[in-house]
Amino acid sequence: MTDHILDPTPAPAPAPPSGLFEAERSAEIVAASFAGTADERLRQVLGALVRHTHAFVKEVGLTTEEWAAGVRFLTETGRTCDDTRQEFIMLSDVLGVSMLVETLNNPADGRFTESTVEGPFHLVDSPPRALGDSIDEAGQGGEPCLVTGRVMDADGHPVAGARVDVWQADADGFYDVQRPGEVPDRNLRGLFTADDDGRFRFRTIVPNCYPIPTDGPVGRLLRATGRHANRAAHLHIEVSAPGIRTLTTHLFVDGSRYLDSDAVFGVKESLIRAFTRVDDPARAAEHGLPNPFRHVDFPVTVRRDTEP
Ligand code: BEZ
Ligand code: FE
Repeated sequence: MTDHILDPTPAPAPAPPSGLFEAERSAEIVAASFAGTADERLRQVLGALVRHTHAFVKEVGLTTEEWAAGVRFLTETGRTCDDTRQEFIMLSDVLGVSMLVETLNNPADGRFTESTVEGPFHLVDSPPRALGDSIDEAGQGGEPCLVTGRVMDADGHPVAGARVDVWQADADGFYDVQRPGEVPDRNLRGLFTADDDGRFRFRTIVPNCYPIPTDGPVGRLLRATGRHANRAAHLHIEVSAPGIRTLTTHLFVDGSRYLDSDAVFGVKESLIRAFTRVDDPARAAEHGLPNPFRHVDFPVTVRRDTEP
């Protein structure tokens, strides 16, 4: 017998070829498969996605049935999307991901108007309208309201000609795209151009709270977790102009229900405004509104591209 056969020290197990799957090193192995990705940012994002997804599977001990249920849920989410319905955005919204991305990418620093989610209903172009016009073409109820505002930069200079795009749900809580044929196309939407002093104004109805659509997988998720689907009353506003960073935000109605439990986490204190009751026949006539009406003023401070 030769010495090496008698050697009592067990030989070390041969290392598996590095690409073979092992649960302990799963994320490392899969991330390495993307090592050749030429786009550095894509490589970084995919690496982090793999690490966090694998850590999630391990943390919760995901079962095969749960994995399959997740695949079915995402498949259905995709199938629920069409030209006027974006279920994936809603899923991101109710998970708070949309708000996180929005807030991290648009720091207000106490100097700029805070941003909030765009939501899934800005799917169609708003119709250009003249300052002072009404966006309520259907006239199907709701309290008449005047919205005024001024677009400024952080130094208080007006942003002349800023585009102010607004959209909101109707008194029953539906957007026009949810009621095709029932209300005029582009009802409660408007694209306004601020005047030389950055000022804008338009007529509408006081927004009401409403539930996000619950007839799809996102609704099932909310029901399964005992969450309500309501959004606090709001008006969507997007402000853009050459040389400024586009601001996507909301104007929330002070006193609305759900301000502290908005289904998509969209409320920021600085965006809540009083819609003041005005009882003044002369002012009502001046703006083409019935008396009394509500008025809200929303000064908007935007970030110039030259800001650090
Ligand atoms: C919205 O405000 O239009 C909205 C936002 C998130 C989900 C559904 C609707
Ligand atoms: Fe909305």
